Amino acid sequence: MSAVLTILGIESSCDDTAAAVVRGVAGNARVLSNEVFTQTDEHASFGGVVPEIAARAHAEKIDHVIENALMVAGMTLKDIDAIAVTAGPGLIGGVLSGVMCAKGLCAATGLPLIGVNHLAGHALTPQLTDGTAFPYLMLLVSGGHCQFLLVEDHDTYTRLGGTIDDAPGEAFDKTARILGLPQPGGPSVETEAKLGDPKAFSLPRPLLNRDNCDMSFSGLKTAILRARDDVIAEHCGLPTPIRADLCAGFQAAVTDVLVAKSRKALQAARSIAPDVATLAVAGGVAANGTIRSALKALCAETDTEFLAPPLALCTDNAAMIAYTGLVRFTAGMTDDLTLSARPRWPLDQKSPTMLGSGKKGAKA
Ligand code: KG4
Ligand code: ZN
Repeated sequence: MSAVLTILGIESSCDDTAAAVVRGVAGNARVLSNEVFTQTDEHASFGGVVPEIAARAHAEKIDHVIENALMVAGMTLKDIDAIAVTAGPGLIGGVLSGVMCAKGLCAATGLPLIGVNHLAGHALTPQLTDGTAFPYLMLLVSGGHCQFLLVEDHDTYTRLGGTIDDAPGEAFDKTARILGLPQPGGPSVETEAKLGDPKAFSLPRPLLNRDNCDMSFSGLKTAILRARDDVIAEHCGLPTPIRADLCAGFQAAVTDVLVAKSRKALQAARSIAPDVATLAVAGGVAANGTIRSALKALCAETDTEFLAPPLALCTDNAAMIAYTGLVRFTAGMTDDLTLSARPRWPLDQKSPTMLGSGKKGAKA
């Protein structure tokens, strides 16, 4: 039985400055604090995350967020066994803020340093929240990520597919902008979609017939743009009920693609690891009720457990980084002060490089 560890985690790879304290052993740990400072307001008027603004905001806030995380956990650095920090992938200025801060703390205290892949943090969250046994399938769907990961152990990941262009959250945000709805687009499109008819417009389901787990969402957003322009030309404006139909149609198309590709990903995962019993989702888009229900139904049909961690641990946070650090530390995987920040860092080194970069940086 390994020793109980207390790990401080630091996350700053995108637009959330986060710190958390996690205590326990691999497979059974508790979140003692989980502090997040979100920069949404700083970026709101720019229609996306501005890397320079993000980097400055991280540098300004990071030490306060760490202090808060320690205070909420009722601890000081003397109670901590090691410091885990996101070392990539993400916006380089943000990742550097976290890595430099963690290095400074480790140099001053002598604590071990652990560089964590942000995607590994998301991928291991089901273990932190529910002690989910390996192997399992993870669908990561947010504003910056979209991929299927077969998680066989804390260091063995296979990327089974992902988006070749926009992430779904990004498509929700762009659709909201096209239709004049507030940001973030996901919740506003979902609310509007409740009032609309998902079949009123015929929208594309890109790559649905391709026999792999890759997805594409940018064509869907373009289809919404065209449909909106046609409606405006015909009605001299965008009537509210038609706007609701467009939202419902868009959401139904995203849902269909995610469900069809999850079905393929489950098959692909089980062809590699037949014991896969769980489909876990993470990322902001996992908050969407229609998408959740459709994935739940798919799981019921395919004899698979469906797992959606609490939203605070689904979206970007430092508890997942602290937990991944705990697991790596237990396995003797630490870093030294030469740890570098990596803007691109695929979890599965064997998988082909993803195309393009999204609103929140590289889709690693
Ligand atoms: O994981 P997250 O908080 O941040 C990163 O992208 O890293 O995800 C935010 C994304 C945004 O694009 C937002 O529009 C989307 O998740 N989102 C949703 C919903 N809530 C948030 N998308 C669809 N339906 C929702 N209810
Ligand atoms: Zn993330």
